[in-house]
Amino acid sequence: MKKEVKNRNIELLLEKIKSKDITIGVVGLGYVGLPLAIEFTNQGVRVMGFEVDQNKINTLKEGVNYIKDISDDDVRSAVLKGFLIPTDDFSHVSECDAIFICVPTPFTVNKDPDITYIVDSTKAVAKYLKKDQVVILKSTTFPGTTEKYVLPLLEKSGLKVGEDFYLAFSPERIDPGNKVWNTKNTPIAVGGITKSCTTLAAAVTNIAVEKVVEVSSPAIAEMEKLLENIFRGVNIALVNELAQLCDRIGVNIWEVVDAASTKPFGFMPFYPGPGIGGHCILIDPYYLAWMAREYDFVTNFITLAAEINEDMPFYVKDMVIKEIAKLPITMKDAKILILGVAFKRDVDDLRHSPALKVAEIMITEGITNIEYYDPFIPEIEIHNKKYKSILKIDPKVIQSYDITLITTDHTSFDFEMIANNSKVVIDTRNACKKVENRENIVLLGDGK
Ligand SMILES: NC(=O)c1ccc[n+]([C@@H]2O[C@H](COP(=O)([O-])OP(=O)(O)OC[C@H]3O[C@@H](n4cnc5c(N)ncnc54)[C@H](O)[C@@H]3O)[C@@H](O)[C@H]2O)c1
Repeated sequence: MKKEVKNRNIELLLEKIKSKDITIGVVGLGYVGLPLAIEFTNQGVRVMGFEVDQNKINTLKEGVNYIKDISDDDVRSAVLKGFLIPTDDFSHVSECDAIFICVPTPFTVNKDPDITYIVDSTKAVAKYLKKDQVVILKSTTFPGTTEKYVLPLLEKSGLKVGEDFYLAFSPERIDPGNKVWNTKNTPIAVGGITKSCTTLAAAVTNIAVEKVVEVSSPAIAEMEKLLENIFRGVNIALVNELAQLCDRIGVNIWEVVDAASTKPFGFMPFYPGPGIGGHCILIDPYYLAWMAREYDFVTNFITLAAEINEDMPFYVKDMVIKEIAKLPITMKDAKILILGVAFKRDVDDLRHSPALKVAEIMITEGITNIEYYDPFIPEIEIHNKKYKSILKIDPKVIQSYDITLITTDHTSFDFEMIANNSKVVIDTRNACKKVENRENIVLLGDGK
């Protein structure tokens, strides 16, 4: 942690933050930024929401919400009462006491980190940075980003960190679709460049988040976020590998995991599936692997896990081909219905969805007669061709397909009806576990 000179201003700033008589800036009003902004407004704090997507700004200005996990009423009332002001005008940064940066951190086609959104948004903030402001980066990234990339850009303003302004990293843990854990009740780590940076960033965060955990540096906070997500990725890879083994030996992996879960200590259940998706678990291992290379270190274990997970859509495609081979039809004629294309249950997020990958690979291999149904995703694009979700599923609709492929198990799906009316069901999520007549069900990881 950087040493800092004693700054009497800190107590005054803390008092101001605790009074909640402040303005917050949130840069990037997506899955992370909008719920955070709304949580501040729920606490009576005014928020400037900086966004580059004009559609999102216009939608919000009409009081319309586009993030499923937050309340439409909260968004409408925040905007209409002037507590949330969506804008693309970064000059309003100068009105803010603290600014949270919540922009995307994707990877390039070669799976190297792409931090251009962080760099661009930091430059936009730096232009209007003023004394006493607190800047908090929330985008998931590799250790060192805050100190090596964000700090120099902000200090170009002529202001000095720990004296004139304060900088910290605080990763986001929001889990879209999770009905229990949300922005407010999920504890969050905060690590500042200096001690006062941590103290002030924690105090601001604490307005919207009940429990804030202070750590000793931004790098600790950056790395702990990667550990959380890589932990999930590695464990999912393990069950995905075991699912493939179970398919060979005819043992049901789902029952195995449930049985192991009865151990009250030292075990945590993870389940196989058609692959991993979303903006986090798939991408984050690559951020760390890329950074490790700079230090002549190869993250073998993490990379192997990513490889296994990324192979799952190919494995599922092979399951489909095996089932088509049993039917008196060609791959080209086989009529496939994909159920659920969002990257996980009950979300409207399509980013890096394994279902899309499965569809893309099937089409490449000649299984082209594909349709899909997802109540959350009206349209998808595969190989530059647009597909619209079929409008509904009922017994007659299901009966018209040769294979029903379940890739995402939305809770609104009636799996009894689906299984009872499908010629063949390929179930990659154990969604049909309660269905009694299992003759037509091919379950990933049970070898039958
Ligand atoms: N989605 C999640 O569940 C989740 C969970 C934890 C962490 N994260 C991390 O949080 C970060 C944001 O993810 P997200 O899911 O909210 O992304 P998102 O794409 O939903 O939202 C990001 C928003 O930032 C906007 N944006 C891009 N450049 C900008 C700029 N220069 N100025 C202002 N706005 C800009 C985009 O238009 C978009 O609306 C990522 O690093 C992600 O890894 C996401």
